[in-house]
Amino acid sequence: LREHEEFTKVKNIATIELGRYEIETWYFSPFPPEYNDSVKLYFCEFCLNFMKRKEQLQRHMRKCDLKHPPGDEIYRSGTLSMFEVDGKKNKVYGQNLCYLAKLFLDHKTLYYDVDLFLFYVLCECDDRGCHMVGYFSKEKHSEESYNLACILTLPPYQRKGYGKFLVAFSYELSKKEGKVGTPERPLSDLGLLSYRGYWTRVLLDILKKHKGNISIKELSDMTAIKAEDILATLQSLELIQYRKGQHVICADPKVLDRHLKAAGRSGLEVDISKLIWTPYK
Ligand code: ACO
Ligand code: ZN
Repeated sequence: LREHEEFTKVKNIATIELGRYEIETWYFSPFPPEYNDSVKLYFCEFCLNFMKRKEQLQRHMRKCDLKHPPGDEIYRSGTLSMFEVDGKKNKVYGQNLCYLAKLFLDHKTLYYDVDLFLFYVLCECDDRGCHMVGYFSKEKHSEESYNLACILTLPPYQRKGYGKFLVAFSYELSKKEGKVGTPERPLSDLGLLSYRGYWTRVLLDILKKHKGNISIKELSDMTAIKAEDILATLQSLELIQYRKGQHVICADPKVLDRHLKAAGRSGLEVDISKLIWTPYK
């Protein structure tokens, strides 16, 4: 956040219109000053330009020729598509997305330097176009092995499994890069719930199928989940014992089954045969 905004973090925009939804906002977002006297903003659901008046949006929609996020479609399965948007090539889109996302993200600082990020925008597509349901951002080069900076499912689409789909997608990209990854900290409460759910599911599935001993390093190589996150997850599931100065995984089948029952199934799986992508260079 720019300095003067640190002192004026009052929620300004109360609702937004986006596609067929009117959405109540959650937090302050530092829109340019000329928007700060508005309680409602009107977004073009495709280019994410925002306007103060409904008539402006209607006029915009007659001439805006986008029907999906700018950038490459890197995944399509049924009506679900993922677009990769380079913040350097689509600066205004990247900035608009950050303004929009900040309305639902509390403790994240807003990056004006969208050049350094890729944005993965998930859409539900129909004959009217590709409608954004959520996104995650990713630094092009992360020193801390972050594979995700910010994640958002738009409120009308929350609690349907899209969040875990986005998380799973971020790890599929890491696998293709041959790197382990972890989300940027801090995580929000809802972010942590999604990650815990994803890590738990993935690790339990492997432990259930695997015969014999397996190490945290091996699990990390298989999943691209950072060793620390694996250890914390298995500890919370009480599947770790500390023996002779080492953490040992103790996957008692009964305990596994109990956890697996509690974990529930995520309906939306990433079909990696439908991901067409090469790492950013
Ligand atoms: N209350 C309780 N549990 C919830 C809630 C809720 N309101 N919302 C989601 N969950 C749980 C779900 O039960 C699910 O767990 P389970 O399947 O293991 O039972 C898990 O969280 C994920 O649910 P999804 O439907 O896959 O996730 P969703 O599409 O709702 O998106 C997200 C999750 C992205 C965190 C969403 O809540 C959101 O956008 N929140 C606002 C922005 C935010 O906080 N982002 C994370 C910040 S941290 C970071 O960016 C690195
Ligand atoms: Zn537009």
